[in-house]
Amino acid sequence: MSSEALPFGETYVPSLEAYLNYYRRSIEDIEGFWDARARELVWLRYWDQVLDRSNPPFYRWFVGGVTNININALDRWVGTDVFNKVAYYWEGEPGDRRTISYRELYREVNRLAWALREIVGVKPGDRVSIYLPMIPELPISMLAVTRIGAIHSVVFSGFSAEALADRIVDAKADVLITADGFYRRGRVVELKRAADEAVALARQQGVEVKKVIVVKRAGNEIPWNEQRDAWYHELVNEAPLRAYVKPEPRKAEDVLFILYTSGTTGKPKGVMHSVGGYMTYVYHVFKWNWDPRPHDVYWCAADIGWITGHTYIVYGSLMNGVSQVMYEGAPDYPAPHRIWEIIDRYDVSIFYTSPTLLRLLRKYGDEWVEKHDLSTLRILGTVGEPINPEVWKWYYTKIGKERAPIVDTWWQTETGAAMISPAPGIALVPLKPGSATYPLPGIVADVFDAEGKPARPGEKGYLVIKEPWPGMLMSIWGDPDRYVRTYWSRFSRPDEGVWIYYAADYAIKDSDGYFWLLGRADEVLNVAGHRIGTIELEDALLTHPAVSEAAVVGAPDPVKGQVPVGVVVLKEGYEPSPQLEEELKQTVRKVVGPIAVPARILFVRKLPKTRSGKIMRRILIALLQDKPVGDTSTLEDPSAVEEVRRAIEEFKKLMKS
Ligand code: PRX
Repeated sequence: MSSEALPFGETYVPSLEAYLNYYRRSIEDIEGFWDARARELVWLRYWDQVLDRSNPPFYRWFVGGVTNININALDRWVGTDVFNKVAYYWEGEPGDRRTISYRELYREVNRLAWALREIVGVKPGDRVSIYLPMIPELPISMLAVTRIGAIHSVVFSGFSAEALADRIVDAKADVLITADGFYRRGRVVELKRAADEAVALARQQGVEVKKVIVVKRAGNEIPWNEQRDAWYHELVNEAPLRAYVKPEPRKAEDVLFILYTSGTTGKPKGVMHSVGGYMTYVYHVFKWNWDPRPHDVYWCAADIGWITGHTYIVYGSLMNGVSQVMYEGAPDYPAPHRIWEIIDRYDVSIFYTSPTLLRLLRKYGDEWVEKHDLSTLRILGTVGEPINPEVWKWYYTKIGKERAPIVDTWWQTETGAAMISPAPGIALVPLKPGSATYPLPGIVADVFDAEGKPARPGEKGYLVIKEPWPGMLMSIWGDPDRYVRTYWSRFSRPDEGVWIYYAADYAIKDSDGYFWLLGRADEVLNVAGHRIGTIELEDALLTHPAVSEAAVVGAPDPVKGQVPVGVVVLKEGYEPSPQLEEELKQTVRKVVGPIAVPARILFVRKLPKTRSGKIMRRILIALLQDKPVGDTSTLEDPSAVEEVRRAIEEFKKLMKS
């Protein structure tokens, strides 16, 4: 398939020149560009300075500006056509449905904001943890929290009680919003029980959650603490029907929210996003990515517990006034065509998902797709992992019927919204299957070699961002040093005043300037589009009394991209067994959550380590992929390689029998 030859009906005529003209102007005067973009939104006070660069890498955007993201996501629609539009077509896994207009959303957010402020006593700057499934009360809670100037920390409902407790403690959150339970593959997940356990664990670590607000979703029996717990619906019912809470004026450089993400240590990082910068960036990137029109129905099939959902299901989409679909459950439940059914039911025109989901649905066979019309689709997006050209082509031909461009969006929790991706809302560039194409306007991206020099076209190197952008993280909650170390130390040259953002991703820039993203360059796994730190999993395995040493690495997987594999040395007196393997998997499930459970655990007597004791993951990865192990001269004990090879062989034999 030649990249110039993709037809998109009448809708888009790809033109590299048109895009590059816009792009070049955007980076000639970055501050001027963002100044004009920010003025397209509603502010209570305009800024004195677009970008304060005086204390890099702590950049401050729109200094002196005052606003509240609610004004642009909700209040701005009062008295317009959008107010009566559907904001969310919500579908529960069992098939129950709710339709919520912008008007209803506005009312609900105001009532909850009123209750949070007047009854619960939440004040500006307070942290509120939100541990909710994909139900409308999740976006409502986020908006209510930011409306009163508080800071939310949403924790994905698939994380365990222990993972939630860590995040509550780190953020020092004293209010938690959760639900009784929710549906997943036909079963009820007991969320409130996990929340209670987390609250107890947080107390042991010195953080007291004073109020737990519980949404009634699944109607399951739950433990109840009279002093501490409150039903969400009862709380909201205490608010006047037409409660109005003035959006709390917030400084542009205040914290809008914290979202925890995995890094290269056992402790997740609280990525902080700013009120004014995040708002400006996601509003525009949403528009550039999806070119939204009044009658579009848009569906981002991610979970709001991740940054994709924050930006593309809550803030970016509502600020653009689109109607969207929100779905609670598993994508292939009760049958493999659930997704296609939903697209047809609501006439979805813009669909955004992950390569993992596409690989899964493709595996089920095209007969599931062919039952459905899907002719309303006009833009298709992907995010979270590299998309292999095969899957790209399947998406393009089978789902989009060669009419819809594929918008492959590269970005991270830290970047706020997409950074490298096609922008049909400006001008569509010719697409190359598997490439995220060009940086978005205002984004100066490059690929560096190990020495920090620009890599040659086609040469694999490290993705970097060379200028600040409004959607960038402000810092890491409670740990500014880690912010500097993690993102700004690899290639920056502070003495020369040069600051370079290190994304920890491998990339190639080809001779046409297209970017190809190749996966993480650090010890972070990408399992089904979810970011998981190997060290977190190792720490989890080490909590089991049988484990003496543990290494976790990613093994390639045809659907999930990568799966974690644990390589474990047992303590004296413990013997490898299938039961012990299962126990260790359950330990990870308990400490981190179901998404992180290793696909397998290999038992070895020793791990390949350097003389200074560092585990050589590179060797484990090569062995798991049946690849040459390369240079082993720095190994303390070269026989460890054979030991791991033997464990892998044994495992393979076991699988065959
Ligand atoms: O490795 C990149 C991969 O996902 C990482 C960011 O993960 P997270 O912060 O959880 O955010 C995911 C959703 C934005 C990146 O460092 N990644 C994300 N998008 C792509 C990607 N890899 C290749 N292509 C993409 N489009």
